[in-house]
Amino acid sequence: MPGYPALPEGLAYGGDYNPEQWPEEVWQEDVRLMRQAGVNLVTVGVFNWGLIEPAEGVYDFDRLDRIFDLLHSEGIKVDLGTPTSSPPVWFRNRHPGSRLVDREGHVLGGATRHSFCPSSPEYAAASERVAGRLAERYAGHPALAMWHVHNEYGWANAHCYCPTSAEAFRAWLRERYGDVGAVNAAWGTTFWGLTYGSFDEVEPPLLAPPGLLTGLQLDFMRFSVDAHIANYRREREAVRRFSDLPVTTNFMIPNCKPMDYWRWSAEVDVVANDHYLDAETPDAHIGLAMAADLTRSVSGGRPWMLMEHSTGAVNWQPRNLAKRRGEMRRNSLAHVARGSDSVMFFQWRASRHGAEKFHSAMVPHAGTDSEVWRDVVDLGADLGRLAPVRGSRVEADVAVVWDWESYWALELEWRPSADLGFRERVGAFYEALWREHVTVDFVHPSADLSAYRLVVVPSAYLLTEGSAKNLHRYVEAGGHLLVSFFSGIVDENDAIHGGPYPGVLREVLGLSVEEFHPLREHGTVAVSSGAGEYAGRIWSERVRLGEAAALWTFADGPDAGHPAVTRHDLGAGAAWYVATALDEASGSGPRGPYGLRGLLGEVLDHAGVRRLADVPEDVEVVRRGAHLFLFNHGDRPVTVPGVTGTGLLDGVEHRGSATVPPGGVAVVRT
Ligand code: GAL
Repeated sequence: MPGYPALPEGLAYGGDYNPEQWPEEVWQEDVRLMRQAGVNLVTVGVFNWGLIEPAEGVYDFDRLDRIFDLLHSEGIKVDLGTPTSSPPVWFRNRHPGSRLVDREGHVLGGATRHSFCPSSPEYAAASERVAGRLAERYAGHPALAMWHVHNEYGWANAHCYCPTSAEAFRAWLRERYGDVGAVNAAWGTTFWGLTYGSFDEVEPPLLAPPGLLTGLQLDFMRFSVDAHIANYRREREAVRRFSDLPVTTNFMIPNCKPMDYWRWSAEVDVVANDHYLDAETPDAHIGLAMAADLTRSVSGGRPWMLMEHSTGAVNWQPRNLAKRRGEMRRNSLAHVARGSDSVMFFQWRASRHGAEKFHSAMVPHAGTDSEVWRDVVDLGADLGRLAPVRGSRVEADVAVVWDWESYWALELEWRPSADLGFRERVGAFYEALWREHVTVDFVHPSADLSAYRLVVVPSAYLLTEGSAKNLHRYVEAGGHLLVSFFSGIVDENDAIHGGPYPGVLREVLGLSVEEFHPLREHGTVAVSSGAGEYAGRIWSERVRLGEAAALWTFADGPDAGHPAVTRHDLGAGAAWYVATALDEASGSGPRGPYGLRGLLGEVLDHAGVRRLADVPEDVEVVRRGAHLFLFNHGDRPVTVPGVTGTGLLDGVEHRGSATVPPGGVAVVRT
C-alpha cells in the first residue's frame, strides 16, 4: 500500500544501521542480533555518499550490495537513505561556491555533515545524480521497502546567506511579488525609508544593527523552506523514475523551528519523525506526547513512522541523561499510542569514531550483557504483540492551533515582552490538556475544524484574515474556541491588522484590547474567578468588552477590575479569551491545581468534551482505534476504572478496570 513500508506485517522495528563503520565480521553478529531482537527494518546508507561515489562520477556499490544481500538473507527490510545530507569531501573542494555561509557572513568549514548551501546548483545536480544512481541499482532489490531521502532537511543549514542564496532569494521574490513595489508595500518599507528601487537591491537578512525589516525576515524563512523542499522533490523524482516504493524524509518535529512541516507533509508518502527526549526537563514524556500528536497531525491523522529516537542518552544535550529502566519502553509505546506504526532508533550499534560515540544505541558499547540490550529484545517482543495496532487511528475532540509562520513571527526581535514565546504558550496549554487526559490534534488555523468540539489558540500572533474568518465560521456553526492573549495581532507580513487589537479576532471574541501591560520579570497579577484567586504571569492588558461577557477579572495590577477571562456566545458556539498566562508556574487555586486547569475544566465541560474521571494525573491515557494505551509515569501501582478487554502485552483479561504497575504500560483491546 503506498504510504507504508513494504513490510511483511505488524509494526516496523529497527534503526539506522551504519555497517560501513565496522569490519565485515561484525555484520554477521549484527544480523544475528537483529533477528534475536525482532528487528524487521533498518535504515541504511544515510551518510554514505563519499563511500559510494568516492570521486565525482565514480561509483562503488560493492559494500552496499553485500549489505543488502546479507539483510535480505535474514529477512530484514531496508529503508534506503539517499546520502545527500553529507556531501563528500571532494564535492566541497570541487565546488567552493556550494559552501554554507552563516548570518555573519562566515563561510563554514567542512569535515562534518550539512555543510552545504541549499540553493547551490552544483549540489542540486550532484544530489540528484547520486539519488538516481542508487535508485537505478536498488529499485528491484527484494530487501528494499522504502526510500529515506536525505536526513533531516534544515538540521544545520536551514538558512544560507551566500551570494548564490541571495540571488535565489531575489528570484523567489520576483516570482512571488512580480514587481518591487509590491515588496515595498508588503514589508512596509516606508518605515525608516528602507524602500527598494529594484529586486537587485534586496539582500538576505544578514547580521545587521537591530531593527531589520521583519517582513524581509519572514519571507527569507519562507524562501528557505522552499529551497529545501525543491532539493527533496528533485531527489524524490530521481528515485521515482526507477521505483514506486514509498518515499519519505525524516522530520524533526517539534524541534526544527525553521521547517514549516505543514508544507512538508504534502511532499512525503508517509510522515517520518525523529524525536529525542528533552531528558533534563521534568515530565519529559509530556513533551514527547506533544511531539507525537503534532507529528500525527502533520500526517493528517494517518499513521506515521517514528524514524529515530534513542535507547538512552544522546550525545548533544548539555548533560546527557540516560533513560531510567522502563523509560525507553514507555517512550517507544507512547509514540505508537499516538499513531506511529514504527519504533526506530538512532542507531543500531554505538559508533567508535566521530562525534556521536557517546550516543546510546540498540547495541551499546557494553555489548549484549547489558540492560539496554535486554530491553531492546523485550521491546521487539512487545511490538510483535502490538501488530494489530498497525494502521489504526487516533481520534481527538480537541485541537490546538499550531502555525510555524506565527512561531517565526512571534519570536522576532522587539516584541512587547521578552517572556512571550510560541512554545511557552502552546506548551502550557498542551500540558494542562495532557493532565486532564485529553488527547489533542494540532491544526493549522486555516484547516477544517468541524470535527472538533474545542479549538485552542494559544499564541496565534500572526493570523491571516482568512484564518480568522475560518475560526469565526467554526464558532458560529457550534464550535468552542479558547484564545490566549497576543493572538490575531499581525498579518502574514507582520503588519498590525487595522484598528484596535486583536484585529481580525475582535468580532469572534466580542471584545477589543486597548493597551498591553506586560509584567515585570517574574511579576504576577491576581485574577479573580469569583470563587477564588489565581496568579497570572507575563501579561496583563486592558480588555474592553463588546458583546462578550467577563467571567474572571484582574484583581490587582494595571488592569485591576477589568476582564481577564471572557466568553462570547456567538451563533451556536462560544469563544473564550484569556488575557494573561494562567499556568502551572502561577501556583494553585481553588478550582483545580492551577488557573489554566480551572479554566480549561469549565471550557471542556461547556464544550461537552468527555474526560476520564478518577484517573491519577500522572497516568497517560490514549485511545488508538480499538486499543486503549495506559502509561503509569508514577511510582505507585494505579487502577484505572472503566476498562474491559484483553491486554495485548500480557494477555490479561480486564473486567471493569486495569491495574498498571509503577512505570508500566498496558495496552487493552476493548
Ligand atoms: C539525528 C540525526 C542522526 C543522529 C541523531 C543523534 O538528528 O538524524 O543522524 O545524529 O540525531 O541524536
